[in-house]
Amino acid sequence: MAVSEAGRRQRAIAAHRRLRTDLTLEAQARLGRPEAVAFEARLDKHLLDIYEPLDELYGPDHDVPALFERLVRSALDAVEQRPIELRELDRRREIDPNWYQRARNVGYVCYVDRYCESLAALPDHLDYLAELGVTYLHLMPLLRPRPGENDGGYAVMDYRSVDPRLGTMDDLEAAGRALRERGMSLCIDLVLNHTAKEHSWAEGWLAGDPDYVDFFTAFPDRTMPDAYERTIMEVFPDRAPGSFTWFEQANGGAGGWVWTTFWSYQWDLNYANPNVLAAMLETILWLANRGVEIFRMDAVPFMWKRLGTSCMNQPEAHTLIQVLHALVKLAAPGVVFKAEAIVAPDELVPYLGGHDRYRPECELAYHNQLMVMLWSSLATGDARLATRSLRRMRPIPADTSWVTYVRCHDDIGWAVDDGDAAAVGFNGSDHRRFLNNFYAGRYSGSFAKGALFQENPATGDARISGSTASLCGIDQALTRADDPAALERALRRFVLLHVVIYAFGGVPLLYMGDELALRNDTAYLDDPALSDDNRWLHRPRMDWSAAERRSNPNSLEGRTFGWLQRLAETRKATLALRTGGESEVIDSGDGRVLAWRRRHPRSGTFAGLANFAAEDVWVDGARFGLHAAGDDRPLETLLSSDGPAQISNGWVRVPGLGFLWLLDP
Ligand code: GLC
Ligand code: GLC
Repeated sequence: MAVSEAGRRQRAIAAHRRLRTDLTLEAQARLGRPEAVAFEARLDKHLLDIYEPLDELYGPDHDVPALFERLVRSALDAVEQRPIELRELDRRREIDPNWYQRARNVGYVCYVDRYCESLAALPDHLDYLAELGVTYLHLMPLLRPRPGENDGGYAVMDYRSVDPRLGTMDDLEAAGRALRERGMSLCIDLVLNHTAKEHSWAEGWLAGDPDYVDFFTAFPDRTMPDAYERTIMEVFPDRAPGSFTWFEQANGGAGGWVWTTFWSYQWDLNYANPNVLAAMLETILWLANRGVEIFRMDAVPFMWKRLGTSCMNQPEAHTLIQVLHALVKLAAPGVVFKAEAIVAPDELVPYLGGHDRYRPECELAYHNQLMVMLWSSLATGDARLATRSLRRMRPIPADTSWVTYVRCHDDIGWAVDDGDAAAVGFNGSDHRRFLNNFYAGRYSGSFAKGALFQENPATGDARISGSTASLCGIDQALTRADDPAALERALRRFVLLHVVIYAFGGVPLLYMGDELALRNDTAYLDDPALSDDNRWLHRPRMDWSAAERRSNPNSLEGRTFGWLQRLAETRKATLALRTGGESEVIDSGDGRVLAWRRRHPRSGTFAGLANFAAEDVWVDGARFGLHAAGDDRPLETLLSSDGPAQISNGWVRVPGLGFLWLLDP
């Protein structure tokens, strides 16, 4: 153990010892003996994961023992205030800590207003979600945003109240209860990299209040901003270029260039100031006590800045999430974190705690790489790049899981590693350009109808907006009365993508409207607060009349909805599709077929095969260890696009744009 690490450990133990007697007495008086004992046990367990990160981040310039005591006391306050039903949930989760890995889990994400108008109406719209097998509901940003433009709610001006358009905090709590009664968990966004410039902390800065001047990062002239901007990437180069914005201060304050990674009204918090960490912890604990079970940790890669770097994925950003995680486990052990880190594959795994020195971080993280690779494979009819890049990813810790998804509310950024591309004979930047052209519908022969997002003329970079259905070709097919097969192909693409996310070994997350194949929606162009941001193209309103057609198995909606139901049911019944443990991506021997295998000690080997090309492909079953070549003993076809698997001499036929979920018992 390095000397500094040993020193940290000793300091942690000393700080704990000083606090312990008082804290025990106090906890017993405030919580009663059983809860106090549980609190103490949790503090023993998480002590190093709380103290060491604080020491790493803030020592020796700050009084770390005092900070430790302050944060532990915040956790104790939160336990005392935690409603009894949430403490009961904590107890269940402590007994069943990997609950989020069960095969029954399916996530759904929606905007409250776009789904059902208001939070008060949400409990009446849960039957619909239950039909899809949903167990986890992510409600898009709903805390009070700034008025006017607010980045779809990602510019929060008050974390302790709800957007009045959607309802009240009481409504949110009631929605959380209604979900829990049905075995569904509530997930909301925690926008912790930045606040709206109307948040009271930012108003404190604008007023020159000394308590808030260090809550944000600001510079008196362009020297530092220019130096940083030499190495940081712009998130919105088209509509919000640069990463700093000038603001004046009142009361004789000098004003400054405030760090604004995203839009100029979103101010990056300065986590080098421990008061910011403390304030954010209190915010999380307060929301957890309102019934939030999963926090989607928004834009976490940006939380720490370092000159000369991209100011993303810095080690301290991880340390910050780790300490917040440990403190939240101390106060509300049932709560889990989901990382939103849309970064290169090599940078992604650490958000699940895959560090050299293991320390828990987030239980869940978006599998951005899988998502990008699905779309890449669909455009090329070729899964080699996917196979290569997924095989190369580092394993994730056993207690964590991916969240697998096809689409979300954001654009698709082409996280294609140049080395991976080269390994399969592509040029990385050409391929990214091809994908943009393909999905923007600019490539001849493209089936997709999307739009470029934030094209950067200086670098040629761009990302893609568009709904799943439109990007899969459903939109285009519906206008092609001359070619009825076009719709069949588009539907097969739609199914193929979902087949992978439901069986890859992660919690599949459905994006509202995809289950009904809702197409691009251009209504946002009429709203001046939205028209600058074409991500609204794929944020439609729920179409309840389309939803009614879901019970007709011959309608478009009935077909997509029905497939998603079958995927969820089969997944739930298949032990190997429990999300703990890795999926092993296998070289199928044919570049067109993505193949992966999952083992479970009690259920045999699962193999998933997805053919991205239009024509049928035969692959050698021996490659998946399914059975020896020449052995035609029937494998169990759990689910497939075209009936039971056809096997001959150990070779398996995968139909064009089709799939097989097989089990070798
Ligand atoms: C996340 C959100 C995105 C938002 C950004 C800034 O990436 O998903 O919609 O623009 O954070 O909060
Ligand atoms: C965040 C997300 C990225 C997205 C951007 C805005 O940076 O991580 O995926 O493109 O926000 O949409």
